[in-house]
Amino acid sequence: MNSRIKLFPVASEINKAGHLVIGGCDTLDLAVKYGTPLYVLDELTIRKQCREFKNEFGKRYPDTTVVYAGKAFLNGAMAALLKEEAIGLDVVSGGELFIAESAGFPMDMVYFHGNNKSAEEIKTALSRHVGRFVVDGMDDLARLTSMAEESGHIPDILLRITPGIEAHTHSHIATGGAGSKFGFPLYMAEEAVSRAMAAPSVNLVGLHFHVGSLIAEVNPYLESIDLILEMAAEMKYKYGFELEEFNIGGGYGVAYTLEDRVPEISYFAEKITSGIVAKCGQLKLALPGLVIEPGRAIVARSGVALYKAGNIKDVAGPLRYVSVDGGMADNIRPALYDSKYEAVLAGKMNDKDTDAVTIAGRFCESGDILVKNIKLPPVKGADVIAIPVCGAYCIPMSSNYNASLKAPIVMLADGHDRLVRRRETYQDLTRCDSL
Ligand SMILES: Cc1ncc(COP(=O)(O)O)c(C=O)c1O
Repeated sequence: MNSRIKLFPVASEINKAGHLVIGGCDTLDLAVKYGTPLYVLDELTIRKQCREFKNEFGKRYPDTTVVYAGKAFLNGAMAALLKEEAIGLDVVSGGELFIAESAGFPMDMVYFHGNNKSAEEIKTALSRHVGRFVVDGMDDLARLTSMAEESGHIPDILLRITPGIEAHTHSHIATGGAGSKFGFPLYMAEEAVSRAMAAPSVNLVGLHFHVGSLIAEVNPYLESIDLILEMAAEMKYKYGFELEEFNIGGGYGVAYTLEDRVPEISYFAEKITSGIVAKCGQLKLALPGLVIEPGRAIVARSGVALYKAGNIKDVAGPLRYVSVDGGMADNIRPALYDSKYEAVLAGKMNDKDTDAVTIAGRFCESGDILVKNIKLPPVKGADVIAIPVCGAYCIPMSSNYNASLKAPIVMLADGHDRLVRRRETYQDLTRCDSL
């Protein structure tokens, strides 16, 4: 048995021929049908994760709303699936809002975030009556209050507070520390609450924080919860502020490699909900509605990147490079965050891992290495290499570097494959240009 199979989507198996099968579809057939590089998403995994967050938090804390962070991956098919699962959507741009609206996603379930929302974006979001604005700073608050006044619609808002908690994650994805560009620093929270409460054009319903992404321990959440609830209690005492909604952001970690140790969703749910109940009891605060915003933990495991091996090169080291037909243009994470991945040969799942290789991308950067020094069965040109846990922050961060074509996305379920984004063409590369 190939131990790496457990990193793949829930509906993954190895067939008699030793091929990787996902959602009932043979990945070698998919690579032939759609070409490579190819991103496949297993629908069952996404639905399972949505339901697990809902159930695990909801059974402990009934007034829980799960809001998916669209930055992890969003397109029309994903928005439609979220709508079916009755999950909210966190958007950070007019573009994400447009995708959601085009897919018929209910606007009252949208949370509009962003540390620099443009006037145009605010205007559109106000006109769509989005569910919540998450306000990120004094300028954001001032712009929103005056634009809301002009629009005549009173939006429900949350204030994003930066708790000053340093989470143990890569510095690029830590957002809760004192120097973060996001949110109101805790020392400004009082000013923000009093200004928002005094503004008749907005309705302050609660507070938000997000400590960062890929968090594998519960303490940053618990410490932030305590700090922000203490601040809320003080605001209640001073200004009569009622915390109706408490949004604790996303960031729940996922395992990318066999070595990664990440708590179960049930563990996060147990510790977080009991932490909120205990602290509210101690501070004599009514229990607020709880909102969680997982992105990565809903979609990461559902996604698999399929590449074709090309040139193989032995260099001093000794080091064997296997170059593939994708790389940093479709998955920037290894170059950006030094992220680690596993890989398999999709057609040789039962063969022994005997050869150490480094999987290199095809782009013109030495840093374009997808997986360093991994043991695989002997690789031959044209073998299909599958990298698991590619559902989050790969496609949304993809680029056309070296004028490459963005990969197609195929949704898999019950043995059916459905193209939800076609491969770009050369014509797409020049579509926006003029001579
Ligand atoms: C405000 C907010 N909520 C939720 C998320 C989702 O984080 P993750 O995908 O790690 O769950 C992010 C990610 O940056 C965020 O900034």
